[in-house]
Amino acid sequence: MTTNHRQPEVNIGLVGHVDHGKTTLVQALSGAWTDQHSEEMKRGISIRLGYADATFRKVPGVDAPECYTVEEEVDGEETELVRTVSFVDAPGHETLMATMLSGAAIMDGAVLVVGANEDVPQAQTEEHLMALDIIGIENIVIAQNKIDLVDAERARENYEQIQEFVEGTVAEDAPVVPISAQQEINIDVLIDAIEETIPTPERDPDAPARMQVARSFDINRPGTTFDGLLGGVIGGSLTQGTLEVDDDIQLRPGRDTDDGYEPVSTTVRSLQAGGDSVDSATPGGLIGVGTGLDPSLTKGDGLAGQVAGPEESLPPVHEQFTMDIELLDRVVSVDEEIEQVSTGEPLMLTVGTATTVGSVTSARGDEAEVALKRPVCAEEGAKIAINRRVGARWRLIGVGTLT
Ligand code: GTP
Repeated sequence: MTTNHRQPEVNIGLVGHVDHGKTTLVQALSGAWTDQHSEEMKRGISIRLGYADATFRKVPGVDAPECYTVEEEVDGEETELVRTVSFVDAPGHETLMATMLSGAAIMDGAVLVVGANEDVPQAQTEEHLMALDIIGIENIVIAQNKIDLVDAERARENYEQIQEFVEGTVAEDAPVVPISAQQEINIDVLIDAIEETIPTPERDPDAPARMQVARSFDINRPGTTFDGLLGGVIGGSLTQGTLEVDDDIQLRPGRDTDDGYEPVSTTVRSLQAGGDSVDSATPGGLIGVGTGLDPSLTKGDGLAGQVAGPEESLPPVHEQFTMDIELLDRVVSVDEEIEQVSTGEPLMLTVGTATTVGSVTSARGDEAEVALKRPVCAEEGAKIAINRRVGARWRLIGVGTLT
């Protein structure tokens, strides 16, 4: 059977504070290790979005949650396929918030991993939850991880801290599942909660393909001769439509030239989804698209943050825009009040998978006009995560809506 190789149908973010066990949990759920970068290995933290697909399965004749597994066979009996999901493992380190925010653009739901052995909330537990709130990701499951490290009383205290922390947030009603990712305890209960809480979104099969590009690569080995060169590869997720081999696509805003950014057009030469080469791909999961583009363009995430699709269907490119602003009450984890956005200040803005710095050219209360260092491709109504420099780093201060 090849049922293990299906395109995932939903993207689930793994978010939470550094070292609380996101990567270990993805591994328990998928058998894959998402930290693939050698540099990541060295630093021991996820520096880029890692991702892995997992197929949830069910032992026939057994009730939920005990029936859930990721194994193809249990006690000699073949298990039934439930669905294939894709996990996007967002980095928990505080300097990598921009990566987490751009990852959030392709999440349909999220698992917030909270370490049971530390007080709640830790800085990025709070900041990641805010980000989910701001970007409008409502389907959330909380995994209370590392229960193997605490006794029952501490686990209960920690559970109560979690409940208090999520009160009044988007995760207020989220199920909290105690687990040990490392010892693989309660993984079935967690899958059950994901199945109940994070459904596959309904998609319009007739919409034109639209891909949010999260990564881009040059897959050629150093020293490859011109004849053997493969075109650039883009990785990301379709938010709508179907992409097929031989489709003509455009990427916006495109390449940086002496005359500003210019869209680039290319043809889909190959497609990878769910770990396989496929002829067509649909929304859900992260896909790899082999293109005819010069690999120097796609090297090192050169095209991350762009939007791809049929030329006539793509949203416009903005070098500046006006946004309505809704500020948070206070700067998360610094506990400082947030002042109004003011003319002249720089902001770091995440729009879809794109992150760019914008300079405020005019601020009027809850509306601001910004000039962008790098343009973005986005539709009216798009959500914008707004970060301000506070001390040495960018902090999430609010959400904008492109007008
Ligand atoms: P970043 O990607 O850097 O944000 O960290 P992360 O949240 O992905 O954490 P990771 O999975 O790398 O785990 C951090 C450490 O905690 C590792 O040493 C894991 O082995 C350990 N760990 C993860 N889950 C568990 C658990 O359930 N129990 C115990 N005892 N240790 C765990």
